[in-house]
Amino acid sequence: MSTLSHLIENNRRWAQGVNSRQPDFFRRLAAQQSPRYLWIGCSDSRVPANEIVDLLPGELFVHRNVANVVVHTDLNCLSVLQYAVDVLRVEHVLVVGHYGCGGVRAARQGRPLGLIDNWLRHVQDVADRHRGFLASLQDEAQAEDRLCELNVIAQVHHVARTTIVQDAWARGQPLALHGWIYGLSDGLVQDLGIDADSPARLQAGYANALARITGAAR
Ligand code: CO
Repeated sequence: MSTLSHLIENNRRWAQGVNSRQPDFFRRLAAQQSPRYLWIGCSDSRVPANEIVDLLPGELFVHRNVANVVVHTDLNCLSVLQYAVDVLRVEHVLVVGHYGCGGVRAARQGRPLGLIDNWLRHVQDVADRHRGFLASLQDEAQAEDRLCELNVIAQVHHVARTTIVQDAWARGQPLALHGWIYGLSDGLVQDLGIDADSPARLQAGYANALARITGAAR
């Protein structure tokens, strides 16, 4: 049987490195975590949350799934969001999509892949909502990029509509939502501009971000 000893060795080397730079690092972290950010991103191995924003362990609370989808009946995602907002009191929730997303591509192509087709149906719902706009684009690459962006905007809106965020805003808790997209080919994130920290700003940010995506490409 093949073992994963190389990964264990990597781990030992990593922990030693951290320890030598900051001897009390793990002891301090073990006592408590107080991240200011919740990252909701894609499971894609090329989009590692902490590395992209250069944050250390303890600084970023993370939920990842295929195509960074936020579904109102997904207890897993909702539990992460609820714990992050109510208990950890994060101040920012970032939904981070990425160009070249295999989940978005599969949703576009509609080729059967198994159980995951049901999950990707949520991305297809977003595509259906913008069917006319996506069909007006010159090529498939453009349509796929725009759908990656539109999916982020839709999922930020879903985060905003949860009872968790609605309740936090109603009691005056500072909480801002953001939609970002990450480029696999240059390692850079772009802010899609939906920034929302209240129900009123959500509507304005949502409309502006949609207009920027669907208007700029026309
Ligand atoms: Co992806």
